Amino acid sequence: MPVTVIVGAQWGDEGKGKIVDMLTDRVDIVARYQGGANAGHTVVVEGAEYILHLIPSGILHEGKICVIGNGVVVDPEALVGEIDALVARGFDVKGRLFVSSKAHIIAPYHKVVDKAAEAIRGEGKIGTTGRGIGPAYADKAARLGIRIGDLFKPESLRAKVENAVAPKNVLLRAVSAETELIDVDASVAWLTKQAERLREYAADTGELLRSALRDDKVILAEGAQGSMLDIDHGTYPFVTSSTATTGGAVAGLGIPPTGIDRVIAILKAYTTRVGEGPFPTELIDGDGPRLRTEGGEFGATTGRPRRCGWFDAMVGRYAVELNGVTEIALTKLDVLDGFAEIPVCVDYELDGKRLGRMPEDMGLLDRVKPVYETMPGWNASTTEIDRYNALPDNARRYIARIEELVGAKISIVSTGKARDATILRW
Ligand code: GDP
Ligand code: IMO
Ligand code: MG
Repeated sequence: MPVTVIVGAQWGDEGKGKIVDMLTDRVDIVARYQGGANAGHTVVVEGAEYILHLIPSGILHEGKICVIGNGVVVDPEALVGEIDALVARGFDVKGRLFVSSKAHIIAPYHKVVDKAAEAIRGEGKIGTTGRGIGPAYADKAARLGIRIGDLFKPESLRAKVENAVAPKNVLLRAVSAETELIDVDASVAWLTKQAERLREYAADTGELLRSALRDDKVILAEGAQGSMLDIDHGTYPFVTSSTATTGGAVAGLGIPPTGIDRVIAILKAYTTRVGEGPFPTELIDGDGPRLRTEGGEFGATTGRPRRCGWFDAMVGRYAVELNGVTEIALTKLDVLDGFAEIPVCVDYELDGKRLGRMPEDMGLLDRVKPVYETMPGWNASTTEIDRYNALPDNARRYIARIEELVGAKISIVSTGKARDATILRW
């Protein structure tokens, strides 16, 4: 029962989309298991760029089945927009994209609440993508959510919307007496309209995936965000609202944990983060902006500049242990080509003492000092190299040192945006 899980091992944007697209040829089904349209997964095929927010990155491969699992929160307008854009670019989506009837919907009121909650937090804001993610998952946990399947039961939809809207209007009133309240009628009308477009994609995707496993099909489970943004194990509260670690694939797809036989962590050769929250190796000046320019580090969803810093092996090792990682895909190695020296964070120091591992209280990450080991750069282009032995010696030393520090084999090295700018060490 082979399931390979793809999991982000830092703060998101590690290059999951590129690696999923590159591996899709080898699998039967690609299935997204958590997050929503906060994700932005970029895939470049023959020079053309595609940014996928909800649809699995396997969709660009003709004939492959793509699933949006029950663990995803679905903004129907974002989904339909994505489907239409793919169809306009010549891709066939009908009959091979399936969305779980159990997946929760992001309605316009979730986005209103997302923005209001950020405004209330003020200085302590999280820096969300504003896509309504937190409020939609909050409704799910509070048993106030509307699921895709509910759209097809018009007789009970209104009562569900009334329950969901009432507490939100109390919050909005608290923000300001002038704030426009959420209108139940308009919300019901909006949801009813979405039903028309979603009907042909809604399915029992849990059964679809389990039946595929019974038939020995291979599933690639595509994660969004990254382990440090995981709601339990990340830098809470500066996280997203879902389980962005391997466990999310089991709950978010309705598949057994025993079906997973590979977990590939995607690690960028340096570190980035979008939004607020601690980031020990962040470089505010000098090499930080340089990494941003060389790596094109601007958010695929919001366009915000990404905060940049050196590779943090404390984060890498934590993610390897937490996710049961069997191998690593190291991405964007080429971005480091021009750096004469490349520091790697090997430990954290707090009040003069080395920590040795990730602290349980991640609030401390605001106060720790990274302990760096400096590796020599390679001053040569690795762009689009596709054979390990063709890499400069120092690039191979960098890879070997990261493997040693994080405790897993780097079996994939990415050296550019394109599919074939990839080294496979299988
Ligand atoms: P994701 O959210 O994890 O899928 O990552 P994003 O798509 O948000 O960000 C990764 C960016 O890096 C995208 O623009 C990719 O096209 C690009 N990218 C991925 N791998 C490589 C690589 O090895 N080298 C370079 N230069 N760019 C890459
Ligand atoms: P992919 O899948 C990077 C960040 C936001 C914010 C925090 C909470 O492309 O790697 P949310 O809107 O989820 O409530 O925001 O999480 N964030 C991401 N950062 N990549 C992502 O997705 C992200 N999705 C959310 O910037 O800090
Ligand atoms: Mg992204």
